Amino acid sequence: MPLMRLDKFICDCGVASRREIKQLIKAGRVTLGGETAVAPETKFDPETAVVTIDGTALKYEKFHYFMLNKPAGVLSATDDGKQKTVIDLFSPEQKRLGLFPVGRLDKDTTGLLLITDDGDFAHKVISPKSEIEKLYHAETASPVNDGDIAAFAHGVTLADGTKCLPAGLSLCPDGSCLVTVMEGKYHQVKRMLASRGKPVTALERLRIGALELDDSLKPGEYRPLTADELCSVMKKK
Ligand code: URA
Repeated sequence: MPLMRLDKFICDCGVASRREIKQLIKAGRVTLGGETAVAPETKFDPETAVVTIDGTALKYEKFHYFMLNKPAGVLSATDDGKQKTVIDLFSPEQKRLGLFPVGRLDKDTTGLLLITDDGDFAHKVISPKSEIEKLYHAETASPVNDGDIAAFAHGVTLADGTKCLPAGLSLCPDGSCLVTVMEGKYHQVKRMLASRGKPVTALERLRIGALELDDSLKPGEYRPLTADELCSVMKKK
C-alpha cells in the first residue's frame, strides 16, 4: 500500500476532522507505530503501522458501508437546499467521507437504505442485471388478491405503459402485503400496486439481497455493515 499522511488516514476512518486531528496530535492522544505522533503530515504505511487515538487502534477502510433505517420525511439525497436528507443524519466526520445513498426510497418510504462512498458497489446493487431482490412491506387501501399475485408473477404493465419484470407478491395475515422486486424504477412498488387498483398507504423496505434491516435500529439510526453483511447484499435469500 502506498504511504499515507497520518491526518488523511484518521480522516478516512471517519472519526475526526482534519482540524480535530491536529488538536488530538497536539494533545499527545495519537500514537503511530507505538510512538506518540507529533505531526499530522507524517507519512507511513497503513498496512503495517498501527495508529491509536486514546489507546484505541483505528482500522483503515478504503470504503465505508452503513445500514440506515430511513425515517419518513427525509429525502434520499446527499444534500438539498431546503429539506433534510439521509446524509444529514450522519455525523460531520462521516459526512466528510463523501457518503451517498444506494438508490432511493421515496420521502415517505421507510426502512433499509444502504449508505456508502463506494460507487461501484452502489452501481451493482442498483442494476437490475445484478438480479438483487428488494423486499418491501406495503399497506394498501384494500388487500391484494390471487389476480394481483398472478399479475405480479407475470410482470405488470404500469399506467404509462412501462413493463415491469416479474415480481413476487404475497398477502400477509393482517391484509398488508410483501412485494419482491429486482428493479428500482421511479415509485415502482407504489405504481405496480396502483396499477392493480391497490394504492399504497405505507411502504417499508425490509431486505436487499440477503441483508435484512436490523430491527434494533430505530427510524433515523444507522450502523456500519459487518463484512458478512456486506457480502450478503449480493446474495439470494
Ligand atoms: N417503490 C416505491 O414506490 N417507492 C419506494 O420508495 C421504493 C420502491
